[in-house]
Amino acid sequence: MNSKFMGFTTATVIVVGLALWLDAKLALGGEVPVPPDFFYEETKPLDPVPFSHKSHVTGKKLQCPECHTKPFQMKKLAASPQMTMKVLNEGEFCGNCHNGKKAFSTKEAKDCAKCHRKK
Ligand code: HEC
Ligand code: HEC
Ligand code: HEC
Repeated sequence: MNSKFMGFTTATVIVVGLALWLDAKLALGGEVPVPPDFFYEETKPLDPVPFSHKSHVTGKKLQCPECHTKPFQMKKLAASPQMTMKVLNEGEFCGNCHNGKKAFSTKEAKDCAKCHRKK
């Protein structure tokens, strides 16, 4: 074997190894980079509502499939037009969890400000 071939083989092993390692990581779902926080703005007359992947995924240890691709598409604000308070209060979208059982409710006057906040 010449040294050029050895170099090529080594490089191939490293690339394949890296790909397998990344694959395993993604399959485990543990360390996939999560999108940055964003705001829902169709909230007048109340303040906008932040959504934080960081606090839900890292903080609350929720898994991606609990929210994707149902009830949420992986597209920021895709569901916003359907997301009225009435619909959330009926247990759709955020209301799947924010129902007073899994997480604070969308119906409690004392909790409105946990979601509706100044930017
Ligand atoms: C608690 C619910 C929840 C969990 C858990 C969750 N997401 Fe999301 N994700 C959302 C919501 C809500 C949106 C925005 C959808 C909308 O507004 O219609 C979103 C949007 C996204 C987007 C699109 C971002 C953009 O800028 O358009 C990506 C990518 C995404 N999520 C990836 C993930 C991954 C990867 C995980 C797991 C590590 C994850 N999400 C876990 C709720 C969640
Ligand atoms: C779990 C988070 C959450 C809680 C708690 C919450 N909201 Fe909302 N609210 C939202 C989201 C998300 C929207 C839709 C924003 C969008 O689609 O851009 C919204 C929209 C609204 C709107 C705009 C008009 C409408 O009906 O959609 C009003 C008004 C509103 N909320 C009032 C309230 C009141 C009053 C409370 C407390 C009783 C409350 N919200 C509690 C998340 C929440
Ligand atoms: C899969 C369940 C689930 C869904 C869906 C979900 N949440 Fe949450 N959320 C939680 C849990 C659990 C907590 C911790 C709350 C508690 O301790 O009562 C939380 C906390 C929060 C908080 C307070 C912490 C923070 O991030 O500032 C906000 C605001 C919030 N959620 C907004 C939303 C909005 C807006 C949506 C819809 C776009 C949503 N959540 C959808 C489970 C969920």
